[in-house]
Amino acid sequence: MPLITEIEDLRRLYRRRVPRMFRDYAESGSYTEQTLRENRADLDRIRLRQRVAVDMSDRSIAAEVLGRPVAMPVALAPVGMTGMQAADGEIKAARAAEAFGVPFTLATMSICSIEDVAAHTTAPFWFQVYTLKDDDFMRRLLERARVAGCSAIVVTVDLQIMAQRHRDLKNGLSAPPRLTLSALADMATKIPWGLEMLATRRRSFGNIVGHAAGVEDASSLVEWNNRVLDPTLDWRRIAQFKQWWGGPMIVKGIMEPEDARRAAEAGADAVVVSNHGGRQLDGAPSSIRALPAILDAVGDRMEVHLDGGIRSGQDVLKALALGAHGTFIGRAWTYGLGALGQGGVSRALEVIAHELDLTMALCGERRVQALGRHNLILPQGFEDPTVPL
Ligand code: GLV
Repeated sequence: MPLITEIEDLRRLYRRRVPRMFRDYAESGSYTEQTLRENRADLDRIRLRQRVAVDMSDRSIAAEVLGRPVAMPVALAPVGMTGMQAADGEIKAARAAEAFGVPFTLATMSICSIEDVAAHTTAPFWFQVYTLKDDDFMRRLLERARVAGCSAIVVTVDLQIMAQRHRDLKNGLSAPPRLTLSALADMATKIPWGLEMLATRRRSFGNIVGHAAGVEDASSLVEWNNRVLDPTLDWRRIAQFKQWWGGPMIVKGIMEPEDARRAAEAGADAVVVSNHGGRQLDGAPSSIRALPAILDAVGDRMEVHLDGGIRSGQDVLKALALGAHGTFIGRAWTYGLGALGQGGVSRALEVIAHELDLTMALCGERRVQALGRHNLILPQGFEDPTVPL
């Protein structure tokens, strides 16, 4: 096995192993992909202050998220269809997260069902919910999450309509995949992936097929989403989910301070500053630049997390030092999963933890809780997303 020292190594392996249709799904942003690029570029613009001659012998990156201990403040973000990146992918990722001691978030649009993931894990995981039109289905979904022992719901609020990602349309993305000639030609070069897929029975949307009226078999993600997502979603309805659920609720997809305040009023226990990994509003600023104003608005009332472009421990550190309580990774763990299965997700977490620990030490800090603006050199105007950099 090649030596994996950084997430980019996993990405290279991933690209060799996984069919184009699913790679494109994970890697794409919407439209011109400007926001996708800026998530990464703006993290890269932040510089770290090097401090020396500080005793670094006793260090810890452990933290608490929503009152529970975590090995580091990094959660696995909900990613749709990861059971197509590797057979039984959500089970593998949840087991890797559990072993490492970080939260795993199961996506509504997962291949393995809530029940299936619960049966193969012991630690409670988080469940991501979309706001669907069908109240009965929503209530049943929340009930299934409760029975499965999920400890929080992550309500995604930035996708009540789905932005266009050109490659998904051109590839005819679906699960199980539609076997067009070009998809077949591509899959013929991905033999280990194909053999694994043939050996599993989990090849369709496990939370939906057989549970939602009118979805009995293969369903295109884009087509299904556009049919069932609730375009009337508003804060009253989000508050209703909190009531139905009754437990911790994380609201994901916040980019404006006013929306963060509304999420707090609707009963959110945490928000995730997120532009959906550049997959929704193309032209939105990077999530890291949106973070400071949101922290000013609600940081004293609730946990504020961040996703978008996090590929290393250095990126995690930058977000924490700006004031984020924690971070989510999406593509980074998906690369690990597609590259090497459960072991690849574990490796992604180890790589990030190691980078975070070392970088923290080189900044002269011994605890992630001690990180702050004093560790950063920010470009002028960075904290105001209306100032061009
Ligand atoms: C769904 O959340 C997606 O980004 O495809």
